[in-house]
Amino acid sequence: MSQHSPKAKYRLDYTAPNYTITDIDLDFQLSAEVTTVTARSQVIRQNAQANTLVLEGEALTLISVNIDEQPWSNFEVKPQQLWIHDVPDNFTLTIVNEIKPIDNTALEGLYVSEGALCTQCEAEGFRHITYYLDRPDVLARFRTRITANKEKYPFLLSNGNRIAEGDLANNQHWVEWYDPFPKPSYLFALVAGDFDILKDKFITRSQREITLEIYVDRGNLDRTQWAMESLKNAMRWDEQRFNLEYDLDIFMIVAVDFFNMGAMENKGLNIFNSKFVLAKAETATDDDYLGIESVIGHEYFHNWTGNRVTCRDWFQLSLKEGLTVFRDQEFSADLGSRAVNRINNVKIIRGPQFTEDASPMSHPIRPDQVIEMNNFYTVTVYEKGSEVIRMLHTLLGETQFQAGMRYYFECHDGTAATCDDFIQAMADASQIDLTQFKRWYSQSGTPELFVTTTYNECDQTYQLTVKQLTPSTVDQKEKQPLHIPLDIELYDQHGQIIPLQYQGRSLHSVLDVNASEQTFTFDCVPNNPVIALLREFSAPVKLHYNYSTEDLIFLMQHATNDFNRYDAAQMLFNQNIQENVARFNMSKSIALSEEMIDAFRGILLSTQLDPALIALIVMPPSENEIANQFEVVNPDAIHWARQQIILQMANLMADEWLAIYHTHQTHDYHIEHHDIAKRALKNASLFYIAHLTDNQCAQRLVKAQYAQANNMTDTIAALGAAVRAQLSCRHELMRDFEQQWHQDGLVMDKWFMLQATNPAKDALQQVKQLLTHRSFSLANPNRIRSLIGAFVSNNPVAFHASNGQGYHFLVEILTELNQKNPQVAARLIDPLIRYKRYDLARQQRMKAALEQLLTLPHLSNDLYEKITKALAD
Ligand code: TRP
Ligand code: ZN
Repeated sequence: MSQHSPKAKYRLDYTAPNYTITDIDLDFQLSAEVTTVTARSQVIRQNAQANTLVLEGEALTLISVNIDEQPWSNFEVKPQQLWIHDVPDNFTLTIVNEIKPIDNTALEGLYVSEGALCTQCEAEGFRHITYYLDRPDVLARFRTRITANKEKYPFLLSNGNRIAEGDLANNQHWVEWYDPFPKPSYLFALVAGDFDILKDKFITRSQREITLEIYVDRGNLDRTQWAMESLKNAMRWDEQRFNLEYDLDIFMIVAVDFFNMGAMENKGLNIFNSKFVLAKAETATDDDYLGIESVIGHEYFHNWTGNRVTCRDWFQLSLKEGLTVFRDQEFSADLGSRAVNRINNVKIIRGPQFTEDASPMSHPIRPDQVIEMNNFYTVTVYEKGSEVIRMLHTLLGETQFQAGMRYYFECHDGTAATCDDFIQAMADASQIDLTQFKRWYSQSGTPELFVTTTYNECDQTYQLTVKQLTPSTVDQKEKQPLHIPLDIELYDQHGQIIPLQYQGRSLHSVLDVNASEQTFTFDCVPNNPVIALLREFSAPVKLHYNYSTEDLIFLMQHATNDFNRYDAAQMLFNQNIQENVARFNMSKSIALSEEMIDAFRGILLSTQLDPALIALIVMPPSENEIANQFEVVNPDAIHWARQQIILQMANLMADEWLAIYHTHQTHDYHIEHHDIAKRALKNASLFYIAHLTDNQCAQRLVKAQYAQANNMTDTIAALGAAVRAQLSCRHELMRDFEQQWHQDGLVMDKWFMLQATNPAKDALQQVKQLLTHRSFSLANPNRIRSLIGAFVSNNPVAFHASNGQGYHFLVEILTELNQKNPQVAARLIDPLIRYKRYDLARQQRMKAALEQLLTLPHLSNDLYEKITKALAD
């Protein structure tokens, strides 16, 4: 049992800080073994009643406390705090302490990554560096002086502008940085190491010249071009679309191999997981390139949405994250294919986000209670948070939305704000009533819409009845009706749009659904129309409407919105999967309708549609997306049904896959949307070809593509097709790949992921063996995610094997990671806490695994919070 039960914090308990810090001078005497930190802060009392200053600090060795340059002894060192008693109203506080970066395996605070020293302070990492008011509503100007060995650490970086530097005796040197923008401690950063640097500049629209620098491990300069290109695109886009210009004279990005998340928006000094910086054609896929563009954009956009306006407290995290995800999604959509981006965003909502809503960790985008803040960097806060911003954008329109953004910055620039502040600015600027809309911030769970329609031939009216219901979630029993924008369109039998009108007034396509049940009436509808619902996925809801197969095929062909075309295909797949899961349970063989195959053939051969869109339409939903449609999840049945559909589609459309495969070859490799789209469809075709009964043909084409590929997209597509279809050539290809790339961790992540999601019966055995592979390390989060994370989350059949071996394996891993890296451990546990979704036999085994984990010595708060929530359910 854990020695102490960690306590939850509540959103409604927020109080303003008793003291604030306006300026801080930091001095670092750096070394990996012991670093000495001197923090000199200007402290001002804010609350006349207070006379004890309480600072946060963890794993620190305190050396001294001075007030106004005099030693101060009236303090107490508490487990994770420093209490300084009887302090004056206004004073200089100087604290000296030591830390040990080399022992920091949690990668929070100051730690070592491949010989370099770097920091990660969000959310509460700064308290691992020094005692401080480590909360986002205390904003100070930071001056940082770093002293270190010049040979080991030739580059010394921090936030803001470099203001001075010099050499010292004994090979030491120092650099001093000053950041004029007051910021909370979570945006502090420091990096020391030896790097290659790509330098460039950007001229802002007000003609200021910004120095741009990307720091990477030596030898990686040839993989930095795309990140720089993406950064400049992001800077230009934010000026054009959001009217926002960069504010410092220099913007730096550092890529590190050891990083718990994607990247971090520290003011003027973004620190990135190297996965989201490094790319060249031989090592990175098209998806990697697009991921880099989006994460570079995301972190850059935080400079305004996150840094200039920050969060008052961590419950407001979606204020910066939901909004910044919305901005990065729009950036990618404006630069590339809007439809493809929208579909990929929706897949995250329907997969991981709906899964989270139905789990013991269910929470609103603005959570009400938190034990470990690191557990709330979730798809709900980020991706659903972005959907909420997108709904606002739909309700207000671009012009009023931008007016709202301007007003938000007018009111809150330089301060720490709340989600309510943001909504208020949007409501004030647009004069739209958002009172009910605000419930999206406080209500958790996935709303469900039940739609029925009736056509009245006599008076040519069409009625749409919409019921909404949000099933109760673990955290919240009662649910209220939400304000849901429902975007629709009507078509006549030729696919022509029927304008929406009633009694001579034309109606907007976005309906305001805001009651538990309501009816919308349209007239002048000449015949019974086909309706497109939830165009562009206008709200993050589950939609129920009794579409006929015929209607869905019609929508695949005629819907004007590309997302709707994709969605109709998904619904068609889902209908078939539901039927076949039932057949699996009755031990019957697969049954597919011929009209469904014909519909997909029509899409595949379309010359009108973007090939990248076709590639998405012809793929069935993932096993996790499918699982979200079942009350009780049967991983074996879902896998079987999906696999059978793939085999049928492969063979019944064999000629078409082969034809498309051959007509969509690209030669030179360009990161250009037309080419990316071509490769996507070619490789979707190869995937189906690999599943042909004509095994010789399958092997020949897969092996040829692997041998001839001049880029990683095509290499990994061939390898992936071989593994997924279990072609016998997969062993030889996997061996070859390993020999070529074993020294390159980021490339090997792709190989580990294929091993982990291998549909072979012995996948778990292979994953276990790979724990000792020469390229694997349990200390590197990217390796953990690609091997273990992929296995537990994306190989449901193997992880949920009825003998419980998958669960045992996860318990072993978590036992080891619990103390080493609690953040990463807590992400891995997610598939285990959802035991209520499975049959009783699995439930018992999963519960036993959780109970075993609860007895771990020194159980982290991160795991404790998830396990206790799960077991209480
Ligand atoms: N704010 C970061 C982002 O852009 C998230 C992040 C990076 C983070 N590293 C972290 C959050 C470590 C918690 C812990 O989304
Ligand atoms: Zn972010």
